[in-house]
Amino acid sequence: MKRVRVPGDKSVTQRALIFASLASGESRLRGLLPGEDPQATAAALRALGVDIPAFDGEGAELRIQGVGLRGLQAPSGALDLENSGTGARLMLGVLAGQPMTVTVTGDASLRSRPMRRVTTPLSEMGAVFREIGEPDRLPLEVTGGALEALDYDSPVATAQVKSALLLAGMVSGALVLLSEPHRSRDHTERMLGMCGVPVISHQAGDVWRVELRDPPERIAPLDLEVPGDFSSATFLLALAILGGVEGGLEIGHVGVNPTRSGLLDVLDRMGASLGADPFLEEDGKEPVSTLRAMPSKLVCTDVGGDEVPAMIDEFPVLAILAARAEGVTRITGAAELRLKESDRIQVLVENLRAVGVRAEELSDGLEIEGGDHPLAGRVSSHHDHRIAMAFGVLGALPGNEIEIDGAEVTDVSFPGFRGMLDDLTAARA
Ligand code: S3P
Repeated sequence: MKRVRVPGDKSVTQRALIFASLASGESRLRGLLPGEDPQATAAALRALGVDIPAFDGEGAELRIQGVGLRGLQAPSGALDLENSGTGARLMLGVLAGQPMTVTVTGDASLRSRPMRRVTTPLSEMGAVFREIGEPDRLPLEVTGGALEALDYDSPVATAQVKSALLLAGMVSGALVLLSEPHRSRDHTERMLGMCGVPVISHQAGDVWRVELRDPPERIAPLDLEVPGDFSSATFLLALAILGGVEGGLEIGHVGVNPTRSGLLDVLDRMGASLGADPFLEEDGKEPVSTLRAMPSKLVCTDVGGDEVPAMIDEFPVLAILAARAEGVTRITGAAELRLKESDRIQVLVENLRAVGVRAEELSDGLEIEGGDHPLAGRVSSHHDHRIAMAFGVLGALPGNEIEIDGAEVTDVSFPGFRGMLDDLTAARA
């Protein structure tokens, strides 16, 4: 069995950089993801006056001296969050509570993604946004300051919106109560706890409720080891499940937060041969485990409803697994996929068809007919890291020939992905 590790969790890294910047005192962070998204967030925080040393993934501990909740300084130009939706939306929350005017922008993909989902509730708190370009899109000018309490019912389950509002409450000392239709990933709530800020979360009837009732004067620095990124790990697990790694694969120190790891249940249903060590979890920190995958014969499944938020980033990898499973896999209730780094419903269907897989678009999902015939063709990443990785895995399987335009976008979340894929499959040859 081959043994590897994957780079640090993107969501946790982004949050760690932001919380460490706003803490009172020195944070010590290990295992940060050096991908392009966190680098863009780090650059934005540096432009706001935080001294964040370079981080390159060589394993060194990063020490960040926080400037305090209201210690950021006005930047000299616009903040460019590049491809990072999490970076942009979380920073809008932080900036909403700072007494300054700042312009936030991003690359073409990020400038095509909706922002009113965060600016509408942040405006209710008292922040002022000016849409410089298209409505509901970056670039945006935000003027922040003292904020008012908020009680907000989010129409979608999104951790980016939830986190932006919690951060706005945290920096401005405003009470924030919110509900979401399903529970989205809870990295921000956990990190608030690690910094000494209590957050209460619970099911309340049909909705998931999150309450920041006691906003802090200051937050404690972090001492954090970022776990490996579950989403990155799933691409390599898929490679092994589909027979691309001789003898199977073991991935150590993977984050297995239950609000993220929903794909494991789906894979189980599909007949994947998976194993996991008992999850290690220390009071409120991110749980970690070692995951194993062996070549397996897969069957189709239906995915939808409550299952979607805990696997929102795993639909590209599910799509290529479904393409090699027996029967038709049906994904519904996942309209949010149209708003990711690309329209993942449209792009997955287009790319699957381009390599010879039957797939149909639904308004809120897709259907994929699996098979075992060789796949060949040319696809585009559409500047979406997870589309590039999914088709990278499919193309690395014996008998398939897939060319990917824009494959280098994998550096957004998984630097070294293509090298690791080559190493794992070379061992098979
Ligand atoms: C993320 C939340 C998810 C996810 C994204 C990272 C986060 O987006 O798709 O890759 O770190 O909060 P939504 O919150 O919009 O679903």
